[in-house]
Amino acid sequence: MDRILIRGGTPLNGSIQISGAKNAALPLLAAGLLCEGQYNLSNVPQLADITSMVDLLTQHGCIISVDGNNIGINSDNITNTTAPYDLVRRMRASILVLGPLIARFGVARVSLPGGCAIGTRPVDVHIKGLQKLGAQIELSEGYINASAPNGLVGATISMPMVSVTATENLLMAATLAKGETVLINAAREPEIIDLANCLKGMGAIIEGAGTDRIIIQGVEKLNGTSHSVIADRIETATYAIGAIITQGELTLTHTDLSLIPTVSEALARAGAIIKETPNGFSIKANSGIITGVDVITEPYPGFATDIQAQMMALMTLCTGASMITETIFENRFMHVPELARMGANITVHGSSALVRGVSQLSGAEVMATDLRASVSLVLAGLAAKGDTVLSRVYHLDRGYEKLEQKLTQCGAHIERYKVAAEA
Ligand code: UD1
Repeated sequence: MDRILIRGGTPLNGSIQISGAKNAALPLLAAGLLCEGQYNLSNVPQLADITSMVDLLTQHGCIISVDGNNIGINSDNITNTTAPYDLVRRMRASILVLGPLIARFGVARVSLPGGCAIGTRPVDVHIKGLQKLGAQIELSEGYINASAPNGLVGATISMPMVSVTATENLLMAATLAKGETVLINAAREPEIIDLANCLKGMGAIIEGAGTDRIIIQGVEKLNGTSHSVIADRIETATYAIGAIITQGELTLTHTDLSLIPTVSEALARAGAIIKETPNGFSIKANSGIITGVDVITEPYPGFATDIQAQMMALMTLCTGASMITETIFENRFMHVPELARMGANITVHGSSALVRGVSQLSGAEVMATDLRASVSLVLAGLAAKGDTVLSRVYHLDRGYEKLEQKLTQCGAHIERYKVAAEA
């Protein structure tokens, strides 16, 4: 088991290369099940979640080669259309193989992701959408059993809520359905545009990705292509906050300010000075004062729930107060008691957290509870006085490529070490 020690109080200064987006790479990997011939992805981040998806595709029979940030997939000899519980429970995004499998092979058996109530949330939108496309679906023994022996048929699907992976699953499934599919109330995240662009490279006919109405004309088959994964906007925003919370200055490269419209606007209101550069942007704190700003998480282009915890870490040091409201996930304030251990003043009322700024955080022993919560504790630790020790760091390894290396090269004192057993 690993832990991370952070010696706080040093501003981050320098340049960080942003990795490819995990949340784009996962559906792009699943899309490998849709196409014939060789399919090559580049700029894939090296992360535990990517390994989980590669393992899942491999057990379906895909031939996969991994070479650094490049992954090649060939799915011409699929041997197994079951996604077993052991692999799916490692990562909820494993559900992304459901749409491609049923669309291309007419049959899929995918374990329900762990921790969700069978038959209702959180995959009801995926299931109802596939049923609209003609799939027969039954839930039994913790599995989604789907079949469409004569293939899927295009339909108009109005989704009751905006769901990123449901939009991706239905988009992928519809590419091989007969006729036209219209996805209404589709998610608009940049990762969906990236997926649609790649599917188009395979020969799919898609219009409207990036809007809430996506129209797909089904085709007989898709062919392998080459595609480079877009920049990770969550990693981008995380390091942007790192520059401000440590009163430093960072240049973030291989990314794009337009990926984080609402977050960059909130950071500017908090006092950041942001300047676009040819392949990214620079960001620095203005005058040492962080102004409190209120934030509400929303589907894209609103403020991403995946940046809520990091923003809260920043707001713990603001002048005045900030109200942070979470509307996407219940119970996504698990970082609050940990930040409080570092001296933060936060009161939670239902889905809102009132953060009263303090003048300084102090290092403490804290525990990572999920991916984004854990990186918020790293940010807080970088800004705090003294040492912070973070346990359960495997959460970080799911989503942040070379985290310690990227931070160390910008002056942070951060190191990973092993302990015999995790408390
Ligand atoms: C994706 C992202 C995740 C991000 C989230 C919200 C990936 C791999 N993961 O997750 O990092 O936090 O979007 O931006 O891209 N819901 C249902 N039924 C469904 C589907 C969703 O009730 O069938 C609910 C969820 O419980 C949640 C909301 O809809 O309250 C949005 O979730 P969704 O957009 O589906 O999240 P993911 O796609 O799983």
